[in-house]
Amino acid sequence: MFSLKGKVAFVTGAARGIGFSAAEKLAENGAAVAIADINAAQADESAAALRAKGFKAIGVSLNVADNASIAAAVAAAAAELGGIDIVVNSAGILSAATIENMQRDEWNRVQDVNLGGTFFVAQAALPYLKKSAAARIINISSLTGRNGGFEGSMSYAASKGGVIAITRGMARRLASFKITVNAVCPGPIETEILKGYTPEAVERQKSVILLGRLGKPEEVAAAVCYLASDEAGFTTGVALDVNGGAFMG
Ligand SMILES: NC(=O)c1ccc[n+]([C@@H]2O[C@H](COP(=O)([O-])OP(=O)(O)OC[C@H]3O[C@@H](n4cnc5c(N)ncnc54)[C@H](O)[C@@H]3O)[C@@H](O)[C@H]2O)c1
Repeated sequence: MFSLKGKVAFVTGAARGIGFSAAEKLAENGAAVAIADINAAQADESAAALRAKGFKAIGVSLNVADNASIAAAVAAAAAELGGIDIVVNSAGILSAATIENMQRDEWNRVQDVNLGGTFFVAQAALPYLKKSAAARIINISSLTGRNGGFEGSMSYAASKGGVIAITRGMARRLASFKITVNAVCPGPIETEILKGYTPEAVERQKSVILLGRLGKPEEVAAAVCYLASDEAGFTTGVALDVNGGAFMG
């Protein structure tokens, strides 16, 4: 679809789900990929699966809530793959706690992973991105970051709204380095994270999707791939909805 030959992508949360699908599609289009995840064993397995298909991929251990871990993972990936051109921030966790039941430590954990992780991974990759001819930061936000969420999970919605805000802020500050920064806002997608909701809550969400079904990780990966491409070189500061028509912002 797009030529990403010679590009290196660092994808967080890529052991499975949307992150893995994004890494796979970037690799199919020619990029070398670092599969970075807190689940290091699964990251290694997923990288091996891509290598078995003939792609260049490595697994990297990464906790996006820990800046020492981020520094080590980014440095290891850049050393092994020869720099970093594309960062995809897909690592994320869900909290489905209600407004009434949310506890402060759970609130903080969600912000730390989803929002802090996105920011500090981008920060750590900056020295490499500044050397790239067409650098890209692509942050996986969410429909909830646009509409406040259907299920009352305020910490999650706040973290994802924050991701859109820092996407726009970074787009502004980093344009002079020719780095584009965009967000993708998926609606409900068939991955493990949805198990954090009750089946009834998933059905409620499905009922407002105009296309009448959940999304697939590959459909989010395609949007990531477009934003990573040279063809998207004039697109920055965008929050791209991939939600089957559940919300039009
Ligand atoms: N699936 C959906 O419905 C949906 C909708 C909108 C947005 N999203 C967002 O998409 C992203 C990917 O979610 P997914 O659906 O693929 O879920 P997933 O649970 O399948 O994948 C998340 C990955 O992130 C990793 N991860 C979690 N905490 C981490 C940490 N501290 N450091 C590094 N890696 C960590 C997990 O190990 C896992 O591999 C998340 O940011 C999520 O919020 C998902």
